[in-house]
Amino acid sequence: MLNRDEMEKLLQGMSLREKVAQVTQIGLDSFFADSTKPTGPMIAHRLTKEQMLNAGSLICSEGLDREQEEQIARMVEEGTRHKIPPLIMSDVIHGMRTIFPIPLGMGASFSEDATEEMARVGAEEASACGIHVTFAPMADVVRDPRWGRSMESFGEAPALCGRLSAAVVRGFHGKDESAEDGMATCVKHFAAYGLVQAGQDYCHVDVSRTEMYNTYLPPFREALDAGCDMLMPAFTPVDRIPATANPWLLRHVLRRQWGWNGAVITDWGSIDMMAVQEFTADLTEGARLSLENGVDMDMMSFAYISRLEELIEKGEVSEELLNESTRRILEVKNRLGLLDGRGSRVRTISPQQTRAYREKALQAALKSCVLMKNEGVLPLKNGVKLALTGSHADEHGLLGGWSAAGKNEETPSLRDVFQKESRVTLCRPEEADVILFACGEKQEETGEACSKAYPMLPDGQIEELLALSALGKPVVAVLFCGRALILSDMEPLCDAVLNAWFPGSEGAEAIRRLLMGDEVPSGHLPVTFPRCVGQIPIHHDMIPTGRPNRHDGNHYVSRYLDEESTPLYPFGFGLSYVPFSVSPVETDRKELRPGEVLRLSVAVSNQGDRAAETVLQLYHHARQGAQLNPARTLDDWRRVRVEAGETLTVSFLLPWEKLATLSPEGEPVLPRGVYDFAVGESAQAPWTAEVSMRS
Ligand code: BGC
Ligand code: BGC
Repeated sequence: MLNRDEMEKLLQGMSLREKVAQVTQIGLDSFFADSTKPTGPMIAHRLTKEQMLNAGSLICSEGLDREQEEQIARMVEEGTRHKIPPLIMSDVIHGMRTIFPIPLGMGASFSEDATEEMARVGAEEASACGIHVTFAPMADVVRDPRWGRSMESFGEAPALCGRLSAAVVRGFHGKDESAEDGMATCVKHFAAYGLVQAGQDYCHVDVSRTEMYNTYLPPFREALDAGCDMLMPAFTPVDRIPATANPWLLRHVLRRQWGWNGAVITDWGSIDMMAVQEFTADLTEGARLSLENGVDMDMMSFAYISRLEELIEKGEVSEELLNESTRRILEVKNRLGLLDGRGSRVRTISPQQTRAYREKALQAALKSCVLMKNEGVLPLKNGVKLALTGSHADEHGLLGGWSAAGKNEETPSLRDVFQKESRVTLCRPEEADVILFACGEKQEETGEACSKAYPMLPDGQIEELLALSALGKPVVAVLFCGRALILSDMEPLCDAVLNAWFPGSEGAEAIRRLLMGDEVPSGHLPVTFPRCVGQIPIHHDMIPTGRPNRHDGNHYVSRYLDEESTPLYPFGFGLSYVPFSVSPVETDRKELRPGEVLRLSVAVSNQGDRAAETVLQLYHHARQGAQLNPARTLDDWRRVRVEAGETLTVSFLLPWEKLATLSPEGEPVLPRGVYDFAVGESAQAPWTAEVSMRS
């Protein structure tokens, strides 16, 4: 790695033109275009081949092969003065070639270990494709299933999003970011992108500062505290100012309050979008505002590379700002070992490695599937005659959105795995003992720009289910979805529902093992499932009303005239094949003072006849405070394995300061009054302990 003096020397030696290229990310095609065949952006912005060769970063979707990697190295070597390699960046979200469950499914695993492993495997495979930085983790909290990007989130609880985002950062870094298989990370989309109005992608966001500080910002903070290298502002605004040029978000919160000095990169074409949205007059104004607010790199707007030089020459933007941004980009490269001649990363992954990766993806999928209903039909009995039907019975597209270089043809379908299962006989529905109805969304319907006004089973599936249920046989639904689908029509028609989300490369195998009872389901919902679209947003940490519905005939209460206010399935919910019981919470003290740590314990018993895992969740509720307090807040959780008949004591440690909330200025609001605590298997766990806060 270069030391500070060497870095400064490099920076001082760079011309203005070289620096504005260094803070620019372009596509591979623009980089490879020759001057006689320039690409669109080169023509539109009158850029030279030399400027392209000096670009600080190249974005690509499936990484590089050895030839491309060598070609890039050669072109930089021959065509630039400082020979600074471009950062190769890509979206490695839930795997590169071996695909793990979608992030929402990883949220359902409530497993930091599995999430870190997902990132590690992603880094091993992606670095082997020449990629240096991933656009992950996505730390956005999601509360609106209409938003297609729900699938990219770890769920609705800030604590879950924060801890799993930090696990992603650790996993990509590995032991050493500069090692051959180390990668840098870029947390996105800063912030509250998940709040797009009515769930429609790229729409307006309106959010209070109190919600920002308490709900939407904390997961970003956790990712940055874990050492995340870069950050991406959202496409959306805060206080009617696009995040890309938002002084409160980027200068005040990120740089001043959090003291973070890493590199900020725009989202795709964000500077351009500000002009389309008529926030800025043109690309020139966008370039100036973004740089002034601390955006270090421009992704695909070509604003910095085409406008900054002139702005600085005219004295309208200070060169020192550009130096700061260039320095931050060079620092990322330096950490990755790119500035001291670290050579090729492209390498072959052996078949043994691939097998090991797929085994890890399988283990993650086993933890992520959520058993949402089971009227005694699961696990399937040996010798069962099974009808495998529905839109997803033969589907290989089980990877979900953002599946990088994942391949459907390398992904077995449910039919593939059940055909090899000797304990069942596959047959037609009319001849079956049990009907397996594989249904849900297509993977293409999940991810960016996949908003839905009707987030429910696609057309025709309920009709199909009605026809099957008319046969009078038990129906087991296996659900594929990238969001909390509305299941009110479907649920009554099924005897069991296993939600597999999009489970990845080994998803079908995981489902087979769970349905056959070789493994016990243990996933828990990372999002609340509403009864209907009109309830959205609905989540476990709603702010209580002063007119609660006590069902006493009072008309003037908070409710819907035409629907319950409760969810169809609460946050944290998930069934097992064994019954667990959880004791009331015991605390080691009745009063908690500043600086003290509260210990909370429960005894969890497995009353079944086989070992199984569950997710114990710790919630608190503050009865009084300087702000309204959420109905409940998830503080912590533990995925525990309990042997048959065994009782385990599980303890949580909760420091006093973690019970503080934040004011609209981001200052701590200290805990006071009485706090209730609950530990259980969902957000419906009853309050069983109380502790008084003392100052
Ligand atoms: C998405 C980002 C992504 C980027 C690069 C954008 O459209 O919003 O999440 O990282 O593209 O592919
Ligand atoms: C309503 C008010 C009304 C008041 C007195 C409240 O329940 O919200 O709008 O003025 O009753 O009738």
